[in-house]
Amino acid sequence: MTNLLCITIISLTLAASAYSQVTSFPSPTPPPIAVLTAMISVDLGDNVTLPCRLLHKDTMHFGSVGIRVKWTKVADDEALNEDVLLSMGFHKKAYGSFEDRVFLQELDNEDASLIITDVSMFDMGRYRCEVINGMTDTIQEVILEVQGGHVDGVVFPYHPPTGRYNMKFDEALQACADQGAVVATYDQLFEAWKDGLDWCNAGWLSDGTVRYPIKNPREPCGGANNGPGLRSYGHQDREKQFDAFCFATALKGRFYWLVQPERLSFDEAVQACLDDDAEIAKVGHIYSAWKLEGYDRCDAGWLADGSVRYPISRPRKNCSPTEAAVRLVGFPDKMQKSYGVYCFKAEN
Ligand SMILES: *[C@@H]1O[C@H](CO)[C@@H](O)[C@H](O)[C@H]1NC(C)=O
Repeated sequence: MTNLLCITIISLTLAASAYSQVTSFPSPTPPPIAVLTAMISVDLGDNVTLPCRLLHKDTMHFGSVGIRVKWTKVADDEALNEDVLLSMGFHKKAYGSFEDRVFLQELDNEDASLIITDVSMFDMGRYRCEVINGMTDTIQEVILEVQGGHVDGVVFPYHPPTGRYNMKFDEALQACADQGAVVATYDQLFEAWKDGLDWCNAGWLSDGTVRYPIKNPREPCGGANNGPGLRSYGHQDREKQFDAFCFATALKGRFYWLVQPERLSFDEAVQACLDDDAEIAKVGHIYSAWKLEGYDRCDAGWLADGSVRYPISRPRKNCSPTEAAVRLVGFPDKMQKSYGVYCFKAEN
């Protein structure tokens, strides 16, 4: 018993001195630097291979006992890095949302590439592959982009207080931005059309084309004999004037009807939201709340662009009876005290 203990202490001491010897001299190889080796693009839902190869073939190969492969998803703040997969010989472990979804390709002895199946939007980012064999560590990084990701959002047609067909391309960009949105892409309008958007006024899209989505073909909207679809005016001179299709994403904050006793003028409405520690809601906010949160209220309220609207997700008598929609009352005289107000309070 005493002997055993003694031996243990000696070997521990030996190990400690060996260790201090290694660390007290400059390392024979320079400290590993992460090398960015690839930018990979993948479509949502597909499988992707993130390449990583053991660079120092002269040393042990990847299949060797004692080689460790570690894949990490790197955050801007390294403290928030996520473990993806750890491999030590035959032992492999995947972590968190990567469980059952990632494995090593291992085509040959130097291959430490990672396969991710069923890629989601959340997989987008920078991945680090570390191959550790004690002497020659390899660190490689790969950036993964996910394409065609359907970002949750809503497309809405927009025209300014000055009326229909009144915006040049640049003005459309500005108008959507002013309403907490961006000019929609072709894909976004196409998705919205599939989802039922029918609108008989042509609007700018981000690629400089002008289109409008028709579900129910009719004569004044590109002809009754043409099938449903996106009607196109093609690329237009950017000085010409149309409406716009804007795209707003999910709210980062709260959209609400301000409960207060009076009907308000526009200026009073702006002030009332400020007094409530919020801002008067933008058109993008009301569409986002309506489409993505099912917001429903049969009260006409001022919005930031001077329009008056109300969001109906449950159609009923006197409140958009035939369809769920954000209803536009119009752009009334700003002095008119006939309406309430919708406010928006941003998260922190
Ligand atoms: C992705 O990989 C999994 C597992 O190997 C396989 O079952 C699936 O068919 C692959 N999917 C695609 C889109 O290739």
